[in-house]
Amino acid sequence: TETVMRRKSAADDLETLREEAAHCRACHLYKDATQTVFGEGPKNANIMLVGEQPGDKEDLAGHPFVGPAGQMLDRALEEAGVDRKKVYVTNAVKHFKFVPRGKIRLHQKPNTPEIRACRQWYEREVSAIQPDLIVAMGATAAQSVFGKITPIGKNRGRLIDLPDGRKALVTVHPSYLLRLPDPESKVLEYQRFVEDLKIAATLQR
Ligand code: URA
Repeated sequence: TETVMRRKSAADDLETLREEAAHCRACHLYKDATQTVFGEGPKNANIMLVGEQPGDKEDLAGHPFVGPAGQMLDRALEEAGVDRKKVYVTNAVKHFKFVPRGKIRLHQKPNTPEIRACRQWYEREVSAIQPDLIVAMGATAAQSVFGKITPIGKNRGRLIDLPDGRKALVTVHPSYLLRLPDPESKVLEYQRFVEDLKIAATLQR
């Protein structure tokens, strides 16, 4: 019956999911975060973009990818020819994980139990949206999309078949580009990111 319930909840509409996720207690991250940051985008999106978790700005705004990583993402999507307005954008983990450092809240990578606890929301978003292509940006997203640890380097930049018939595309996380100290590698890595996203652009409708 557990499976039946799951199947049934697959029909959940996005607004119901969003409301349910707002009260999620599946892991401890809700305690310090401001709010659940759920995915956003059109219900008929055929591409789903998956990030890691909301950052400081997203936690406060309640929307995914609105801070510095979001600006980097917007720029790259535009350059790749992907229309963000037609894409469903979400995160593997829906609460901001951080440690206070003076006045700032320092991002902390979510761990496997946290990623697993949150995966139900990702799965239910996939069921509600039914995307053809899921773009996993970074290792945390890839872990959710493939259900196991999946290295970025050897999987990025090509379409991979998922067991449910959808396609996955693995690439880096835009925050990785922001962290690169060397300007030259930053430019190169940014271009590679755009090249990866161009594969998504070919499938957008
Ligand atoms: N980084 C993410 O992975 N997701 C966001 O929403 C913002 C920054």
